[in-house]
Formats: sequence, C-alpha cells, structure tokens
Amino acid sequence: MAGIRGVLLLSIFAVVVARVLSYERPPPRKNLYIPRRRMLSSTSPEQVHISLVGVDQMRISWITDDEASATVEYGTSSGKYEFSATGTNNSYRYLLYKSGQIHDVVIGPLKPSTVYYYRCSQDSAREFNFKTPPSQLPIKFVVAGDLGQTEWTNTTLQHIGQSNYDLMLFPGDLSYADTSQSLWDSFGRLVEPLASQRPWMVTEGNHEIEKIPLLHSTRFTAYNARWRMPFDKSGSTSNLYYSFEVAGVHVIMLGSYTDFDPNSDQYKWLQADLAKIDRKRTPWIVVNIHAPWYNSNTAHQGESESDDMKKFMEELLYKARVDVVFAGHVHAYERFTRVYNEKEDNCGPLHITVGDGGNREGLASKYIDPQPEISVFREASFGHGQLEVVNATHALFTWHRNQDDVAVVSDSVWLKSLSSDAACRV
Ligand SMILES: [Fe+2]
Repeated sequence: MAGIRGVLLLSIFAVVVARVLSYERPPPRKNLYIPRRRMLSSTSPEQVHISLVGVDQMRISWITDDEASATVEYGTSSGKYEFSATGTNNSYRYLLYKSGQIHDVVIGPLKPSTVYYYRCSQDSAREFNFKTPPSQLPIKFVVAGDLGQTEWTNTTLQHIGQSNYDLMLFPGDLSYADTSQSLWDSFGRLVEPLASQRPWMVTEGNHEIEKIPLLHSTRFTAYNARWRMPFDKSGSTSNLYYSFEVAGVHVIMLGSYTDFDPNSDQYKWLQADLAKIDRKRTPWIVVNIHAPWYNSNTAHQGESESDDMKKFMEELLYKARVDVVFAGHVHAYERFTRVYNEKEDNCGPLHITVGDGGNREGLASKYIDPQPEISVFREASFGHGQLEVVNATHALFTWHRNQDDVAVVSDSVWLKSLSSDAACRV
C-alpha cells in the first residue's frame, strides 16, 4: 500500500511541477531543402501523396520530371498488382518555373482498414503502400497546421509518423514556398514518406495564395495543381473548400481565403452541406479553417478572415452542432472551451488552434493579458494534435508538444459528441 501511495504522490508531484515550471521554448531550427534523389530517372515518381475520394476510393498524386504514364497499379500483396487505374497529367507555369508532370489517379473501390501496395508510372524501383481508414469508429486523426520545412517540421513529422494515425487533417500553410516554386517540390519530397502512406486532407492558408500583382495574377496556382482534394464529391465547385465522411465523422474543410459572405458560393455550399448531414451515420462533425475565429495570441488579431468569417458563419456551425473547429495560422497552440458568440456555451464547438507544425517564421509567443476565461490552455511551442474518436459519444483530443525531440502529451481533453447530448438537440 505504502508503495502505491508513494507512486501516487510522486505522480501528483510530477504533474504539479510540470504545471508550475514553464517549458523553456527552443529557438527556430534550420530551413530544410530536400533535393531530388540522384538515383531517380526523369520518369520516376516522386512527391507521392494520397487523399480520400468518397468512402472507398483514394486519389494518388505524384510528379515526374518528364512525361510518364498516369497509371497506378495496386494490390494487397507487395509486388503483385491485381488492379490498375489511369488518370490525368497536368503541369503549370509560374514566372520562369515550369513544373514537372503532375499525375492524378483515383483508385478503388478499396476495402477499409487494409494495406495496399502500389506503384506509379510503372516504375518498379519505387513501391509504396498505404492503409485505408476504417469504415466504422474508432478512428484516429492527426492535425497540424503551418508545417513549412525546417528541422522542427521534421521533428513534428517524425512524431506524427509514430502515432499510428489513420488520416491527417492539415488546416493550411503547407510548404512556405512563398512563390519560390522549387520549395513546393522540396516540401513534396519531405512529406512523401508519410503522405504516401495515409490520406492527407488539406485546406489552404495564406501562404498558398502566391499571387504577384502584374506578374502572376492567378491565386493558388501551385496549391490547386499539386494538392487536388475531392471537392466535387461534396458538391463544391472549388478546391478551396469541401467536405468528406470517414468512419463516423463528417469533416468540413473551409476556405479562409476565398469568399465567405452570405452571398458567396462557399456560404451557400456550407449551408447545403450541413443540411445533408445524417447524425446517425456521422455522429461527429469536425471543421478545419486556417485563420482561427478564437485567438488570444497577439499575432493575427483583427484579420477579416478570422473576424468576418466568424461573423458570417459561426451561427451556421453552432446550429448544426459542430463538435470541433481546428485552425492554424497562429504559430502556437491554444484550446478554448466550447464557445459561441464569444461566450462559453455547452452546445458550441470546441475551438483549437494548432498552427505550430514548425515553419521557418518561428513561434508566436505573445499573448493578450489577462487570459480570456474561454481560453483554457495556450502555449507557444511546436507540436501537433491527435483526435481519437472512440465511438459515437466520446473522443479524446491530445496535444503533443515537441519537447526537444520527444513528443510529450501536454494537454488533453475528453469530448462528448453534441449529437449525443440531449440538452443540445436541435
Ligand atoms: Fe497562415
């Protein structure tokens, strides 16, 4: 008994010490540039990443230097490809840069929770594999925004890779290429080991816009060409916002950098999308945006993408009983209470900012004082989030700080789905 009491006391002491001693934040780490592998031929696939299309299909995207077939061969055993599918090629120009051939192939139908082996452009030198998400709960999401490509990004990616997750949610600001197009290629190579194995579902941030007045007037050229998402499957007409269903979760990826006022296509699409949700089939609703609607960091205050988008769309999400809203943009972590119209509200979504993936701009470490009552936990450290949706009623969210090079669970909260809360029934 005395031993157990001792262990208990020690654990309580450790928690108290961890809360009292503030974590000393490390400085930014070096930028990374991942060059093209020398052994690759001009038709070898690289920058491979995958994304969900409907409930049983997967989009495979990759790039070759020269023209190569837009074909994916796949099967459930390594080296044995029973199935094959063909898709499309495209490329884009940006100032003097011309991209490689961007291939896009949708494969399926696929079985749930199954490992598939695949090769692209008939290149046997590079075999990849992925695991499909489960068809029913439980499911585990990871969420990280503002990744960029530094040594901290690498640490975040390593921790995500160790998490045994099913699907990545990425609320914007991917490569931080910022018009330097070869950095998009470098980013594609950096994330390939993870993004070729699990679906990465992204939405855009401000760093994806890449418009230069007079020189390049089109917005999102590289992002739309390289990171095509299944927007058409959810009735959206834009790659900048869409929704999808996986296991028992309806996930909505909103666009902070396209129109969101009540006359906009996005607003009307969101209204229609929310109206279609069947809470028996998907008891959970998770929304991703780039610019946070709730934020007590001094960074990014007063931006239209946060304040006006919230003004126009918050009521829609509230009335639909959205469970969680993830955001990026602010390079720090912050978790709010369930909230609506600036006040704690048990039927409002939990707002969580995870813009701390590790990009070169470093951390946003100044906060508004005093901490607003609705802000439960805020900390400027690199890291990532995990959302384990256990069943129709309960989910566990944890935030994993990159403490030196170890992922440490530094914040966690259990959520009860609003669809199962009689007091929030609409
Ligand atoms: Fe941003």
